[in-house]
Amino acid sequence: QTGQSSNRGAFIVVEGLDRSGKSSQAARLLERLQTANIPAKLMKFPDRTTAIGKTIDSYLRSESDLDDRAIHLLFSANRWELATSISSALHSGTTLLCDRYAFSGIAFSAAKGLPYDWCRAPDISLPAPDLTLFLDVAPEVARERGGYGEERYEKEEMQRQVRVMFQRLGEETSGSGGGRQRWVTIDAGQSIQAVEEDIWRAVEPLVHGVDNPLERLWE
Ligand code: TMP
Ligand code: MG
Repeated sequence: QTGQSSNRGAFIVVEGLDRSGKSSQAARLLERLQTANIPAKLMKFPDRTTAIGKTIDSYLRSESDLDDRAIHLLFSANRWELATSISSALHSGTTLLCDRYAFSGIAFSAAKGLPYDWCRAPDISLPAPDLTLFLDVAPEVARERGGYGEERYEKEEMQRQVRVMFQRLGEETSGSGGGRQRWVTIDAGQSIQAVEEDIWRAVEPLVHGVDNPLERLWE
């Protein structure tokens, strides 16, 4: 138990392909934390409620078109407009769960063919997650799940490329921070309960807070 000496909440990101079960698992995790009386909050990117988010939403529903680089920068700006609330929540002791983050930003745009380093640049210096859970599912499994195909990127070939990019991001992020793994791959092809347990095992050491200072991504 590190409860006593902790000075901030943990920043936990959930990433994965479309229909990998991220949103359901993030909701279950939030409930589990709240049941354990751990102050926790759930965020999601894109946050479609802001002015930038509304533009992104319309693009994803194919109601509008935008240059690939322009939409990439808007996804990043959508994170930057919430960066201060992320760090204040963490510093006030709240554990923050985040459904998608900068890794999705890079994976989806690089999958379209934009240069990887160019894609990463605008997200450099964002608050760095303490842990990223990558819910890994085969694109052909995701395809069979409900709702698939409703939005712009939900095509099997695109998702296959996105998965390759996530795997690269995982390799580059898989160092340990504060003695813990920063990137954990979860087999999201399992039952909902099994995925939930794997997630809990990875998250549990962080839920009583972390002592190391909040870092910035890729600095
Ligand atoms: P959502 O289904 O989680 O709301 O995400 C919407 C889509 O946007 C999903 O296909 C992933 C994609 N995406 C990006 O292309 N770049 C980003 O930065 C983020 C956060 C999501
Ligand atoms: Mg989606």
